[in-house]
Order: sequence, then structure tokens, then C-alpha cells
Amino acid sequence: MNYRYGVGALCAPATLFADSLWIAGGLYGNTFALRRLEELFAAEQGESELVFNGDFHWFDVADKAFAEIESGVSRHAATRGNVETEIGQPHAGTGCGCGYPDWVGDEDVVRSNRIIERLKETARRAPGAAARLAALPMYRIAEICGQRIAIVHGDADSLAGWGFSQEVLATPDGRKAAAATFRAAGVCMFASSHSCLPVLQAFNGAGVVANNGAAGMPNFAGTAYGLATRIAPTPHPNAVYRMQVGSLQAEAIPIEYDTDAWCEAFLGQWPEGSDAHASYWRRITQGPHYGVASALRAA
Ligand SMILES: [Fe+2]
Repeated sequence: MNYRYGVGALCAPATLFADSLWIAGGLYGNTFALRRLEELFAAEQGESELVFNGDFHWFDVADKAFAEIESGVSRHAATRGNVETEIGQPHAGTGCGCGYPDWVGDEDVVRSNRIIERLKETARRAPGAAARLAALPMYRIAEICGQRIAIVHGDADSLAGWGFSQEVLATPDGRKAAAATFRAAGVCMFASSHSCLPVLQAFNGAGVVANNGAAGMPNFAGTAYGLATRIAPTPHPNAVYRMQVGSLQAEAIPIEYDTDAWCEAFLGQWPEGSDAHASYWRRITQGPHYGVASALRAA
């Protein structure tokens, strides 16, 4: 109930209007990525909106880090991801709500469930946080230059859905299912996150799925930057890749945060031997086994 909205709900009227739209999913409690992202966003010209589309908390189990993420996200628009949904029900023992597919190992799932329990303890010490996060919407509809864009955390049906993951979009059945959702939602673009790896997938004539991967972790092998999705009529000089969608550009913008400072802050909260260290340290320091060429996908 707390996870599903169904694609029909996305036909709702737009509530966000701007000349440019930034979407940052998967900040994962990286306060240094938050600071860098806000710097980049502040340089944007004209009316602009920044939306944190879920999982902005995760590694931030220290009270100070959690508070910095809370106040930073509160300055902008936000939707809840599975992490915020679970924090928002502090007494339920339902795990991380990631809805992991088969290709994620059991040990990672067990560790994620323990990470969310630690994060819930932190949230219980933050007055009002759980209620505020529980009240966040599951999706937002934006209108940029007259074009409708659905901002979701997971996919067109559920905030924990994997239908817009690079893995599912690599299959003909996955692309067929995703292609049908544009008309059902009346949008030309979905901005998503959740599945942790970026993909910018075009669908002949129907639209584009822009999954930013993670704003707070490296997304490609041998790199050290997070990614945000930017949607605007004019291109950004630093985009890693982009795709034209009608009169708009959908782009992946690198968030080059202070890696050394972030690694120190991460180790302070999740030292060697901890659950998050076991699951994420390799990715944080080396990036995932994934490349830019795999993320940009023409129709
Ligand atoms: Fe998620």
C-alpha cells in the first residue's frame, strides 16, 4: 500500500513548473555530494527546480549527518524512496523495502535490512523526521517547456519497482513494458532512480527513461562522481551524456564531490567489518562494474 501508486495515478496534473529541472535520486546520506549538488544547481539560470526523488538517506546514521541531509533536502522538492518510506514507519520491521530482484545476493539483502534498522534508530532521535518523510509524495509530475515529466523513485507502478533499471531495460520484454507506460501516464519522460545504476533509454517516438543511478556514489568503473539528471531546453557544458527529447535535453550531470572527505565520513559511520562497508566500500572507492557506453541507449 505504501509503495504502489499504479501508472494511472501519473496522469495527474503537473505541480512543478520550471525552465530547468534537476532530479537527484540516491544521495544515500552523502553530505559532500549534497553540498556539491547545491553548488551546481545554484549556477542554473532562470526558473529551476531540484527534486530529491528518494533514498536521500542511507549511510547517514550519525545524528549530524542525518540532520544535514534533512535540512538540505527540505530546501528543495522531494519524493520518498523506499528508505524514507521505511523510516516513516519506525515501528514496522519490514526491512529496507528495496524489493531486490533475483540478481542481488541474499547477503546484500540481509545487510541492507540491518542498515535500515540502524538508520531508523537515528531517525527516532530526530524530532519530526519520521512524520515528515512519511508525508512526502511518492511521485511528482513536472511540466518543462510544455512537456510532462513523471518523477518517480522506482518505476511507473511502484516506488520500489525495478522496471526502469538498466538490467530490465536491457531485455526486449523490459523495454516493451516500459514503452507502454508513456502513453498510460501521458508523459514524454520518466526520471527515476532506485536501481543504483544509471541508464538513459530512448523509446521510438514514445519518450525517454532517465535513471540517474546514484547522486551520492560513483556510477561507472574507475570514476568518483555521483550523477543527477538535468532536463532543460539548453545543454549543460559538463554533461557526461545527453539525449534530445522534443525540445528538451535529458542529461547526466556529474556531481564531483570531495571523495577523501566523504570516505572519511563514511568510515566514521561504517568502519571495516560493518554492514554498509561490506556492501558498498568497493563501489564507493572504485565504482561499479559498469561504463558510460552501457548507460546511454538509443531507441
Ligand atoms: Fe530505492
